[in-house]
Amino acid sequence: MPDTRQQIAEYYDNVYAEGVQPAYPPEFTRHVVHNLCDRARVVHGARVLDVGCGTGLYSALLDERGYDVTGIDISETGIRKAKEYYPHIRFEVQDATALPYPRGHFDFIFAFGVSVANTHDLNAIRSWFEHLLSVTRTGGTVAFLGGSNLSGGSTETSDWINHSWNDIRSIVPRTLQDAQGPWLSHFRLMKSLHPALSMNGATTQALRFLPFSFERRIVLFLRK
Ligand SMILES: C[S@@+](CC[C@H](N)C(=O)[O-])C[C@H]1O[C@@H](n2cnc3c(N)ncnc32)[C@H](O)[C@@H]1O
Repeated sequence: MPDTRQQIAEYYDNVYAEGVQPAYPPEFTRHVVHNLCDRARVVHGARVLDVGCGTGLYSALLDERGYDVTGIDISETGIRKAKEYYPHIRFEVQDATALPYPRGHFDFIFAFGVSVANTHDLNAIRSWFEHLLSVTRTGGTVAFLGGSNLSGGSTETSDWINHSWNDIRSIVPRTLQDAQGPWLSHFRLMKSLHPALSMNGATTQALRFLPFSFERRIVLFLRK
């Protein structure tokens, strides 16, 4: 995985130039997004930021719910494509670690698979969460989703860091954790196993033994 912001932007510029879309079918993804928004109690008209929006599918699904959506990404190609696909939605090239919005501006921040969290430097992740929270209103929510099989390392087929359960818990100040979170859920099972979104720690630990390495998602709700 590239290291610097510029390298990351160039990497994803190339990915999106080839027209690559998010990995999951839109119908399925829609269900997951709606489920998360229901749980975060995001109301119609809410100001929503889709961080690392890529070519904009999640922004579009959030827009469908009647939110006032802004999608941002560091990849200029991703943002150009997002504007082509969804011209009615606001998309901007921005660095997720230096957001230019007023304090408390957003009701809900959605951040799925953003490379900023792909580091062993837990302090860097904590600082980034604090930054996202600074542009979230009091009472609002940051929903962070990332992959992890909880092993604490990378796999042969991916350079995504699979943070351990203890690391994940330590990233988030306890006072900001939703009462039910953090969760680990198996992405493809979110639809059929709705309660997977509110599983307890024991179930979470058990899930790590499922033989589907890529699909597991950490879901963190940070309530401000
Ligand atoms: C794995 S993709 C996920 C895209 C989309 N959220 C999804 O789940 O399909 C990671 C995205 O984060 C973006 N990204 C990485 N670092 C970023 C940063 N510092 N600021 C904004 N976007 C960033 C990348 O350009 C890329 O579009």
